[in-house]
Amino acid sequence: MDIGIGIIGTGGIARAHAGAYLDMAPEVELVAVCDIDAARAKDAAAEWGVAEVCTDYRDLLSLDEIDAVSVCTPTAAHSEPAVAALNAGKHVLVEKPMAANAGAARQMVAAAERADKLLMVEMKWRFMPELLAARQAIARGDLGRIYYAEAIGWQHRGIPGGSFIRRELSGGGALMDNGVYTLDAALYLLGHPRPLTASGAAAAIFGQTPDGNWDPQDFTVEDFGTAFVRLDGGISLFFGHAWAINFTEQWQVRIAGDQGAAEIRPFGPGPKLRLVRGGYGDLEETTPAALPAGSTDVGYAVGRFVEAIRKGDPSPVPGDTFLYTNAIFDALYESGRLGREVAIDLS
Ligand SMILES: NC(=O)c1ccc[n+]([C@@H]2O[C@H](COP(=O)([O-])OP(=O)(O)OC[C@H]3O[C@@H](n4cnc5c(N)ncnc54)[C@H](O)[C@@H]3O)[C@@H](O)[C@H]2O)c1
Repeated sequence: MDIGIGIIGTGGIARAHAGAYLDMAPEVELVAVCDIDAARAKDAAAEWGVAEVCTDYRDLLSLDEIDAVSVCTPTAAHSEPAVAALNAGKHVLVEKPMAANAGAARQMVAAAERADKLLMVEMKWRFMPELLAARQAIARGDLGRIYYAEAIGWQHRGIPGGSFIRRELSGGGALMDNGVYTLDAALYLLGHPRPLTASGAAAAIFGQTPDGNWDPQDFTVEDFGTAFVRLDGGISLFFGHAWAINFTEQWQVRIAGDQGAAEIRPFGPGPKLRLVRGGYGDLEETTPAALPAGSTDVGYAVGRFVEAIRKGDPSPVPGDTFLYTNAIFDALYESGRLGREVAIDLS
């Protein structure tokens, strides 16, 4: 065995992590699983052929055979086990969003720096071939001076249930759950300029509806939200997400420069990527026929995590740049409460 793995939280997304690790046997071994729900932990261990099962992540972290963990708990329960794992000398792959708030995310980044261990956020879009092609175009300077970004995800009907709709477990609703994909993608394409201010609005439009298949009393997050974010370098960003809105479905990440643009529409219809370049009068399509290698499968991200551990490489999706998403979420929720634009705290 090369690398011993533990999985903390054995619900929905943990299955994708487990499947990827099992596919990498025997170089990678799934040593232990943990869930506060004992029956769920036991069932997962039986299904995945794992010998060690526990309900307290500290028991899992005490195992010397474990080199790295996947943290697949609800978002508000990411930081505590992730920090403890890093303090115990384990590498950490944590599900998106990184944490419920920027304070918790900062603790994770600080713990990774102290421990000198990998902290990777499982953000599968970072390996999307279309996103990578757009990033290459931006790095070449094809877009000229960039001044605007758009991160949008309008889901026609898609309100989830379980931990996602309870703020004490999720940290937030549609803006964090779905929005983290487009927001992180836009920031990644822009090269992570510092976010300066945010003006946001968030509301539960359909959350209290009596004909949803969840208990409206449990619904304590937003299902719709928008924000205007000012970024360093004179760049403005529009951010809008809904789990349910009476629009046709539309997701897009778009970056505008004075000499071109990159547009990514991951769920179609139509091409997923459009790149254009030129001046005011001679704009031409430059979308490449061949895209860089990559995949948005969770298993692909898990593979990149293991590869980085094996090679001693830096984290493929490090926590420090991911912190900006949490800082923006905190600011836009505060802005919504106050009814005005607020400064983003990056202290
Ligand atoms: N990358 C993706 O495509 C993707 C998809 C879905 C969810 N997610 C993210 O994954 C995380 C989990 O989502 P899910 O859908 O698997 O949720 P889930 O509710 O199905 O599973 C979470 C599990 O964690 C357990 N748990 C809670 N607190 C715990 C603790 N302190 N210690 C151990 N176990 C604990 C719960 O009992 C549950 O079994 C969330 O952050 C979510 O945003 C990512």
